[in-house]
Amino acid sequence: MNITVINGTEKHGVTYRLKEMFLTEFRDKANITEYYLPKDCPSFCTGCLSCTLKDESTCKDAEYIGRIDKSLLEADLIVMTSPSYVFHATGAMKAFLDHFAYRWIPHRPAPEMFRKRVVIITQCLGSGAKSTAKDIKHSLSWWGISKIGIFTGALMSDIVWEKLSRRKQAELTGKIQKLSRKFAHIDYTKPAHTHLITKFKFFFCRMMQKSIHKSDPEYLDGKYWAEQKWLDSGRPWK
Ligand SMILES: Cc1cc2nc3c(=O)[nH]c(=O)nc-3n(C[C@H](O)[C@H](O)[C@H](O)COP(=O)(O)O)c2cc1C
Repeated sequence: MNITVINGTEKHGVTYRLKEMFLTEFRDKANITEYYLPKDCPSFCTGCLSCTLKDESTCKDAEYIGRIDKSLLEADLIVMTSPSYVFHATGAMKAFLDHFAYRWIPHRPAPEMFRKRVVIITQCLGSGAKSTAKDIKHSLSWWGISKIGIFTGALMSDIVWEKLSRRKQAELTGKIQKLSRKFAHIDYTKPAHTHLITKFKFFFCRMMQKSIHKSDPEYLDGKYWAEQKWLDSGRPWK
């Protein structure tokens, strides 16, 4: 199986340590490809809308985005990590997610995404890990992904793993190992179940694309939906 990891920080801190613990169950059975932000997606989206209106290959950062996009499409499991920065994902993670706006269901979602699984790992000192995970989950659910496992943790006493109490270390370790075992037992030859809410988003956008495609058959997103046969009876989860 293939795992693609998007690390929301380059720091080998607590987030990194928890991610390493999560991957332990998969080390001997998966090809793991890791990307570190901002190194592997170093620039901000400038809002030129070229990806949406022309094609993603025209993005000034296509070299970075194309590589990661390919890896995400080939992955059976995607792992996204971020420490909490002012209650949200790191700026690098936000910049990364902005680059994938063209993959949202209202634009050109990849059919592969509707069958994938994701794990999000976030942690913070006191409070904010949940809203950080929610940030990332929001984007991924609009990519069409239904099966999303979440780890959140709060360190409470210190920001350095070695300085945490044994009890706190055991609590976080136990929690991440439990999630890791849960995802290691999944049969990845079978596609993930697509939630009703994802289908609802799809049908709403389909209605929109149908009308846009009718009035402007050359509009890129509408053309894409037509090519996928989604304006007829084709569905990305089938
Ligand atoms: C810019 C910045 C903002 C932060 N904001 C929060 C926050 O809102 N809530 C919180 O509990 N911790 C916050 N922290 C602390 C980190 O989330 C915490 O130290 C975390 O363990 C860092 O993970 P890392 O070791 O993987 O870098 C912040 C740290 C930084 C550098």
